[in-house]
Amino acid sequence: MWVLFDLDGTLTQSEEGIWNCARHTLREMGRPVPDDATLRKFIGPPLMWSFQNLADMTEEEALEAQVIYRKRYNTVGLFENRVYPGIRYALRCLRKAGFHLGIVTGKPEEPTLRILEHFGLAGFFESVICATDNKADKEEMIRKSLPEGYGEAWMVGDRKFDMEGGQRAGIHTLGVTYGYGSEEELTESGAERLARSPREIAEILCPEVSGVRGAFLSMEGPDGSGKGTQMRRLLDTLGRFGYEVIDTREPGGTPIGEKIRKILLDRENMGMTDETEALLYAASRAQLVREVIRPAVAEGKIVLCDRFVDSSAAYQGGGRQMGIERILGINAPAVDGTMPDLTVYLDIDHRKAMKRRCAVSEPDRMEMEAESFHARVEEGYHQLIAMDPERFAVVNAEGERDAIAKEVAQKVLAHLWETED
Ligand code: TYD
Repeated sequence: MWVLFDLDGTLTQSEEGIWNCARHTLREMGRPVPDDATLRKFIGPPLMWSFQNLADMTEEEALEAQVIYRKRYNTVGLFENRVYPGIRYALRCLRKAGFHLGIVTGKPEEPTLRILEHFGLAGFFESVICATDNKADKEEMIRKSLPEGYGEAWMVGDRKFDMEGGQRAGIHTLGVTYGYGSEEELTESGAERLARSPREIAEILCPEVSGVRGAFLSMEGPDGSGKGTQMRRLLDTLGRFGYEVIDTREPGGTPIGEKIRKILLDRENMGMTDETEALLYAASRAQLVREVIRPAVAEGKIVLCDRFVDSSAAYQGGGRQMGIERILGINAPAVDGTMPDLTVYLDIDHRKAMKRRCAVSEPDRMEMEAESFHARVEEGYHQLIAMDPERFAVVNAEGERDAIAKEVAQKVLAHLWETED
């Protein structure tokens, strides 16, 4: 069976790039920038039409506008784009079902291929048919996509052009309501089935497929390594790349875990013994593993956890000198074999981290520890990395935020793409 996808509005959400390019073009040409409602109308129709009808340009002016627009779009605009969350899951299910996948888009070939490459989607598709010379007849493109004797096929898209093209080409049609076309538009143009989310595409086309696993990622680093910022940046990137991400943290991440967290970080609890501390962290973890991590990964989602068992090994094992092996032993029943597929370690000298930390906020109970404690935490992390180098993506965290975020994203995406079946 073949499943053909439209790109904009079905796999990717492209308004950010389109709007930014339209704004940029109008500004460059000294024209007033229209309101958001007008800008919205730039999605879909050919550029020439939009500039003439939405920005009152003559044909000549619109030609000039098109050049300015394309210049920005082809370098910057096409990456100001998002893959709808859940698309990767749906594509993996369809592939697991043994379907052939293709793309049929009104976009020209060059930006299409670059978008697919950039977002790591190219490998899913056996055929990519794009508009040529501003001609984008969907029926024709659909016919071109399908090999002889293709059997059954579906066209999946968000606009009436996709539904009508599919029907004329004699294949099934599935409309997605999360794109740019309304449910009404899709039904009126004869959509056989409707999907309200990317997941539903897979539920409709291959309901029998299950067991497409997500991934468990953790991020680690000493206090002051900039982990909070990098967590947010990575979450944003994974969302843009079409992953459904559960963002969680340790200690905490569940209602019970958050109560344990309060006890652990309370500055009044200075009398807490090392063993109590280690067991409380493990208790919070046991709850998180069962309540959040395992179910989400089994559903094909990505769990991104701010700290995991490595923190216990580094802080309690190293910092408190309880020994890494002993801490891993205490944690064995808590994690029960559930370990991160990949752990990002933000590598920073503990003295530099301390400086950063003091500049930002009041220290909590753990952060108030002496420098020697934090030196042992850092050393603990390095031992853990040496014990299991394959699991860690070590990123130098002493540099500039944007560069660190980029390296983290590259390493994590490379890992995810390698393991996507
Ligand atoms: P948190 O506010 O999450 O710190 P950060 O933002 O730096 O991650 O506080 C968690 C503190 O608890 C942090 O100092 C590290 C410590 N910790 C342990 O000592 N052992 C553990 O197992 C975990 C998960 C955290």
